Amino acid sequence: MPKLTVVNRAGEESTIEVESGLTVMEAIRDNGFDELLALCGGCCSCATCHVHVDPAFAEKLPPMGEDEDDLLDSSDHRAPTSRLSCQIPFTDDLSGLKVTIAEED
Ligand code: FES
Repeated sequence: MPKLTVVNRAGEESTIEVESGLTVMEAIRDNGFDELLALCGGCCSCATCHVHVDPAFAEKLPPMGEDEDDLLDSSDHRAPTSRLSCQIPFTDDLSGLKVTIAEED
């Protein structure tokens, strides 16, 4: 199974295996990272699934939609690496991806 590395807010890294068909948000949430609130359940309306994505994978990610862009603008911690993890389906292609859970807004 493809692997995803998650860095929590304390800077601790864990690598998890991700079932295909899940989004990065679902993979993180289902593996017990309670820092990622994902309050809206993945419908792109809360921004509590904000992560920073390893720039090495930037070209493999789906393009950012307008709603995602607007929501990220509401975060004080937006950076060029910012994405909403519910908007990234985790495909085999992304195996080895590293994401860091963003600071809480
Ligand atoms: S879970 Fe709400 S925007 Fe991603």
